[in-house]
Amino acid sequence: MSKAPEPIDHVERWRRIVSARREQHDAACAAQNRTTDDYWARRAESFRAFVRLAARGGDPLVASVRKQLRAEDTILDIGAGTGRHAVALAPHAQRVTALDPSPAMLAFLREDAEEAGLDNIDVIEGAWPDAAGETPEADIVISANVLYPIEDVVPFLVAMDGHARRLCFLQLMARQPWFDPPGLWQAVHGEPRRPQPAYMEAVNLLHQLGCYANVEIAWAEIPRTFDSLDIAVERFAESVAVGDDEERRARLRAALEETLEPRDDGMLALAGQRFPQATVWWHAGALQETAG
Ligand SMILES: C[S@@+](CC[C@H](N)C(=O)[O-])C[C@H]1O[C@@H](n2cnc3c(N)ncnc32)[C@H](O)[C@@H]1O
Repeated sequence: MSKAPEPIDHVERWRRIVSARREQHDAACAAQNRTTDDYWARRAESFRAFVRLAARGGDPLVASVRKQLRAEDTILDIGAGTGRHAVALAPHAQRVTALDPSPAMLAFLREDAEEAGLDNIDVIEGAWPDAAGETPEADIVISANVLYPIEDVVPFLVAMDGHARRLCFLQLMARQPWFDPPGLWQAVHGEPRRPQPAYMEAVNLLHQLGCYANVEIAWAEIPRTFDSLDIAVERFAESVAVGDDEERRARLRAALEETLEPRDDGMLALAGQRFPQATVWWHAGALQETAG
């Protein structure tokens, strides 16, 4: 008789996926005395351009939250980044608190909030869950695309759940490695990019903690088009850990040149611009037994 499979510890599995990927990135950066610490400071501008394009088609998380949002609700956005969700949701909520450790990302969020004439967004510069003590509770707590590099994810999720009065929402990629379908990391470093956790890992982990989360999948158009090859190289240089290394830059350039397709409007496009994105949501309080 075949043996029953060993149970999987999804918390441990998550930790190992994240640490293996971080070690690979740190090793690629180490030769240049760079770390992942200032990653978002270096990527803020290109990330903003990317999310602005992505948001044009409508954001699945914004759509999911709005289905349950009441005008009198407050929202906490953990890892708000350049503000794509905070700014889109603020007109429909009483107040939004946008928390992020990166001043560079928050500078763009402030700019966009001001441009949109929004005066109901409070900004907190800090990392979750360390900054939980100085952060007000909210009816709805969201965290979009933040968990991927968080190794110690349970305290993050428990504090998130503990700060929500009504609902918690995560946005996560459903498939991976999503950012590197053309194999740019492989082309530059000669090995495949190690995966990051995706929604399935989060759902399994939440389930292990006694939280039976709901999942909505939406195919989002995330156009990845570039005015020129130079701009495409700059856009990927950070996530592919190219740094100041001329050889790596040349390999990235050659891989992009081979992959990018010219469009009728003169732009260069990466193929495969549709991605399944997951919204994972649950009723607040589901993780408080874990906390106790
Ligand atoms: C991929 S961006 C996502 C930004 C935004 N939520 C979105 O989906 O457009 C990840 C963001 O998480 C932030 N971040 C990283 N670690 C964090 C932590 N421990 N607590 C809160 N935010 C964090 C980064 O500074 C960055 O702005």
